[in-house]
This record gives sequence, C-alpha cells and structure tokens, in this order.
Amino acid sequence: MDALYQALDDARQRYAAANPNSREADKQAEQYMPGGNTRNVLYHEPFPLTMVGGEGAELTDLDGHRYADFVGEFSAGLFGHSDPDIKSAIHKGLDHGIAIGGSTNYERELARLLCERFPSIDQLRFCNSGTEAGLMAITTARLATGRDKVLVFNGAYHGGVLKFPTGLSRFNAPYDFVLAEYNDIEGTADLIKQHGDHLAAVIVEPILGAGGSIPGSSAFMQMLRDTTREIGAVLIFDEVKTARLGPAGVQGRIGIQPDLTTLGKIIAGGMPTGAFGGSAELMACFNPKKEGSWKHAGTFNNNVCSMSAGIAAMGKVFTPQRANEFFEYTEAYRQSLNALFIEKSVTMVCNGLGSMFAIHFSPKPLERMVVRSADAHALNALLHMELLLDGVLICSRGDLFLSLPMNDLHLDRARQALTGFIDRHHSLITSVGNN
Ligand SMILES: Cc1ncc(COP(=O)(O)O)c(C=O)c1O
Repeated sequence: MDALYQALDDARQRYAAANPNSREADKQAEQYMPGGNTRNVLYHEPFPLTMVGGEGAELTDLDGHRYADFVGEFSAGLFGHSDPDIKSAIHKGLDHGIAIGGSTNYERELARLLCERFPSIDQLRFCNSGTEAGLMAITTARLATGRDKVLVFNGAYHGGVLKFPTGLSRFNAPYDFVLAEYNDIEGTADLIKQHGDHLAAVIVEPILGAGGSIPGSSAFMQMLRDTTREIGAVLIFDEVKTARLGPAGVQGRIGIQPDLTTLGKIIAGGMPTGAFGGSAELMACFNPKKEGSWKHAGTFNNNVCSMSAGIAAMGKVFTPQRANEFFEYTEAYRQSLNALFIEKSVTMVCNGLGSMFAIHFSPKPLERMVVRSADAHALNALLHMELLLDGVLICSRGDLFLSLPMNDLHLDRARQALTGFIDRHHSLITSVGNN
C-alpha cells in the first residue's frame, strides 16, 4: 500500500502549495484556539481551508478558489448561502430588535409551521442546537417514565456530548446508556426487553448519519416502535439531519411515528437553533400554566433572527412540494453515482438517501457501522484532497450534503471529479475496497 500513502502525500503537498493563505491563517489561529480550531469536524490534515464567502451553492476560500459546496454545513446548509427570502427574514428579525427578552410571534409561527409538518409533533419547544434538543428529549423521557436508562446505537451521533462513534465515552453527558447495534433487529429487541422496566428511552437516527449515512431498515424502525410501546419507553427520532429528506423527514417517508422528535440544522434556514417535540400529553409537562410543571430554560431559545429565518425557510422556501421535488432530484443523482461506480467496476458506494449520503470504499451498501481500516482512512483522505483540488468541497470523512441552489452544473462537476479520481486510482480503490 506504499502507493496509496505516496499518492496521499503528493496530494497534500499540492494542496499546501495551492493554499498558502489558508495555511498561514491556520497557523496564526493556533495562538488563541487549541490547534487553531473550535470545531473538530472541520479539522483535517495538513490544515483546513479558511472560507471567506458563500453564494448560492458555492464557497470561496482565502486563496481565491471557488468550490461547489457539498459540505452543506453538515446538512444545515440546505438553503445555500444567499437565499433571498431567508436573508430578508433575518433582516426583518434584526429590524425588530436584536435581543428582545420577551415572547414574540416569530417563535409561535415557526412552532405552528413545524407542528403542521410533522404529524407526530403536537407541540414543541425550541432550544439552541441539536445537541440541546437531544439532551432535552432524553430528559423529558426520563422525567415522564421515572426511569433512567437510555438505549443508543453504536456509531450514533446526537450531539457534542451524545456521541457513540466507538461505543460509550466519558466525554458524554453521564446518562445510564445501553449500547445496541444499528439495524440489528433481534439483538436490539432483546436488549429493550431485557432492560424493560428501567428503560426510559430509545434514541435513534432514522439514518445513522456520522456513522456512515446508513439507513435504518423499515423492519428495524418498526421493531423499535413496537417494542418501546410494549415496555412503555419513549421512542425518540433524531431528525436533526434527516428532516431534509421529505416534508416530514424520514418518519413521514416510512410512516412510523415516534413519541418525541429532535430537530435542528435546517429548521431555522441555516441559523442556530434546535427543537424537541411530540405528543401533547408528553409536552404538557412543560406547561408553565400548570402547577408543578418542569422548567426548561435558554436565553436564545426564541432568538428572533433564527425564528424569523425559520419561518421563511419552512413556510416559504422548503415547502412540502419543494421537499418532495428535491428528494426525487437528489436521490436520482445519488443513484446515478452508484451506477457510475458499477460502470467503472470500482468498489465504491454512496450510502444514504436523497441529498444526504456518504462515499464508502465497499463493494456493496453498508447496513451496519463499520470501523474503517487505516488504508480505508488514507484512501478517504486522498479522495477528499483530490476533490478539493478539483473545486469540489466534501466533508473530510466522505459525506456529501446537497443544497437547494445546486443545479446540474454543480452535480456534473462532482461527477467529473469522482470520475477523474477513479480513473487515476482504480487499482488502489479496488484493493482497499475488497479488504
Ligand atoms: C443526527 C444529529 N443529531 C444531533 C446533532 C447535534 O446538532 P448540533 O450540532 O446543532 O448541536 C447533529 C449534528 O451534526 C446530528 O447530526
């Protein structure tokens, strides 16, 4: 595999030579932030690009390169960088006062739009991020059931303190977690029953996102619905990322209703936010007009810029019809890339659904989380570098998130960059992909 590491080294050198300003900016930043970084997922070797501007579905870096942006802010960038309706909604919010410290009609309108979109959500509350939404949903489940355990899946990501890339970790919020394998129907059903009386919640991503964009099978998701109902645990769908996959996220697509849903990323048009919601019965516990209700706080829960942007995003731009059209367009593209890999006889696959997928070096789609070998990591890093050098920005771990302003030109650019990568490295890909 010397050839692989040589190719990676060569690509990194070309990248460094092409990005002297980003390299210098990264170096300068080391003085005030550890490693110059405040968000690990954005770091990659030899140094990350410094972005200076965004327009439509494109980003420009400090060295003047313009990229087709398939990072899509890890899903939150669904609307691209300059949607006029969202920009004017943010300005409108600003015009009404920056930090209001009072209830406004903005949060009421966005709550209405979201509840009307998601049949499983009668009522919701806003918070500041998807992480907070996950923490609050778990807290709701624990308080409502009087139980403590929370079943999670290997490879799942529900936020900065709720992540399970390789099992349990001291980094996480100290809940009493039970770890199960994603898409393992029998094993998970057994665990749920085994912990029955003590299990407060099962929290699951309908597509295991950071774990490799692996869709949960319908049978698996239905089993979670049935067994949690049997034992009286709360089923939480984390649709922070997957809400983009239809008018009512993946739950609308598969027709399974959870007890609670967490949202974030897209629901404020790319501005910071989070939300958790579900049945009126569960959410009534937060009703401050009721004696003994639970108190849920957050200075910026209803910040007007996010709420106003969300109203434009969910009410005007990403309408149910647009959500369906976008799904069809992007799913056809994902499948066309898989057809390209077959045509080229190469062991690569785009795992995922619609506008959210990840490239794996595998002869067939992944159904379970797989820990990548060192060679697979290196090949992935090579893919990332070479696509960047070709003007196509993807996440360093191989994920792509498509955005509404993308057109056939952006999609063709990525397809051509992938074709070039395959033609240059066919034998390397095949030897890593078959291992
Ligand atoms: C599935 C999922 N849940 C929760 C989160 C956390 O959201 P946030 O980064 O807004 O805290 C993320 C973020 O990537 C996510 O992918």
